[in-house]
Amino acid sequence: MANVMVPFTNGKGGVGKTALACSYAAARAHEGADVILADTNEGQQTAMAWSAVRAHNDILPKVRVQPANTREALEMVGRCDVLVVDTPGWNDKGTLLLARKSTFMVIPTGPSPTFDLAPTVKLLHGLRAEGIETWRMGVVLSRFSNDDKIRDSEEELARTYLREAGQGQGGYTVLEGSVRNAPAYGAGLAEGYGLTEIDRGRGLADEARGMMNTISKGVSAALQKLMRLEKELGAFRSNPGKGKERDGGRGR
Ligand SMILES: Nc1ncnc2c1ncn2[C@@H]1O[C@H](COP(=O)(O)OP(=O)(O)OP(=O)(O)O)[C@@H](O)[C@H]1O
Ligand SMILES: [Mg+2]
Repeated sequence: MANVMVPFTNGKGGVGKTALACSYAAARAHEGADVILADTNEGQQTAMAWSAVRAHNDILPKVRVQPANTREALEMVGRCDVLVVDTPGWNDKGTLLLARKSTFMVIPTGPSPTFDLAPTVKLLHGLRAEGIETWRMGVVLSRFSNDDKIRDSEEELARTYLREAGQGQGGYTVLEGSVRNAPAYGAGLAEGYGLTEIDRGRGLADEARGMMNTISKGVSAALQKLMRLEKELGAFRSNPGKGKERDGGRGR
């Protein structure tokens, strides 16, 4: 299995970064992947707290969560199949360093245009301006209404908002579906479960599995693209003249 790095980031606090990072780590561990979750939120260490409760409640599979600053997290790349990184509720230089080295950055956002979508777009624009490709960032609609009708209208509004914001930027990637803000999810997370492990008879686990699979597909697609680009770059480096011949000798 290739090594991937998947940070969960948004300077906006409380959008579900830790909940989704822990859930994604648990979901990949269920598939047999060797996973490390780096908790870079040194002030709160909520992923660490989640893993302590998970261990206390003997929930399997075990998820390895380690405290780390950004530099330490970057050094963990390659030490496992899947390096998940939980980040704090602010953006700093570390956000960009993680984005540059990530396979696919997951950006959870809540539904409010003013309080969630505006700061999310600010982050997306900022990362774009630094050259991070839109296919390496996936927005996850998180903590949307638990009421189906309200959730549908929140989703429509958010998708329109993000589509319009992405015009002229190459179009931002907004992953399919949304994660509802369900009391059962909140209770299960507090007991050390991931979202895919919380059912309570409402199909919540299935819905969460759908989102985790969508994230995995985004990660796989980005990995394929990165490997293809690396191969092309390697071929160019070992024979730089070839490209010139192919493009009709431009730049000679
Ligand atoms: N889908 C959900 N349904 C219900 N509760 C949720 C859901 N996602 C997260 N929560 C709860 O909402 C609160 C905030 O979530 P979380 O800590 O994951 O956000 P965060 O983005 O990591 O916040 P911070 O920026 O402070 O690190 C937590 O109490 C968490 O358990
Ligand atoms: Mg958090």
